[in-house]
Amino acid sequence: MNKIGLFWGSDTGMTDEVVNVLIDLIGKENLDATNVFDISVDKFAPYEYLILGLSTWYDGELQSDWDEFFEQFQTIDFTGKTVALFGLGDQEGYAEFFVDGIGIIGEVVEQNGGKIVGKWSTEGYEYEASKAVKEDGFFMGLALDEDNQPEHTDDRLAKWVKQIAPHFQLQS
Ligand SMILES: Cc1cc2nc3c(=O)[nH]c(=O)nc-3n(C[C@H](O)[C@H](O)[C@H](O)COP(=O)(O)O)c2cc1C
Repeated sequence: MNKIGLFWGSDTGMTDEVVNVLIDLIGKENLDATNVFDISVDKFAPYEYLILGLSTWYDGELQSDWDEFFEQFQTIDFTGKTVALFGLGDQEGYAEFFVDGIGIIGEVVEQNGGKIVGKWSTEGYEYEASKAVKEDGFFMGLALDEDNQPEHTDDRLAKWVKQIAPHFQLQS
């Protein structure tokens, strides 16, 4: 089985915590987890299966490490890669920009030939706008809100991992 490359960035540690839960759910033997802090594009090359995670900051901007890496990120060829995305945001405080980061990263993956799995229903969230929501009405990846709905996070993560598992050849 091919290992999953999990790449994430976090400003205040909330995404770090979610990554720890994900590692437990997926099994640490099934993935390599890499913080996007001080990273280079060649780190992505070995992985056919990818999980990308980030928070959104400052009215729809990428988490700071993703933001710094973004120009290089846009040069990655995702052809033949299967990619699942997750993002943290605040649907009340930043209702017009809820988890925009998922959409910004996801668009690059799609444009550069990647196959996105793990799209997520918008049911159960209240926000005004999100770059993560596409024409099909789904978030491009799992949306988590530790600021307003922390009680849903574990459940959402467990369901999402079940949803993506077959695409990554994981036993669910
Ligand atoms: C100054 C500030 C700006 C934020 N901007 C957004 C935003 O535009 N969209 C959003 O969905 N969440 C926004 N958030 C919420 C964060 O994404 C959320 O708190 C997240 O859990 C932080 O995760 P991290 O600690 O891993 O960076 C913002 C939070 C702060 C404090």
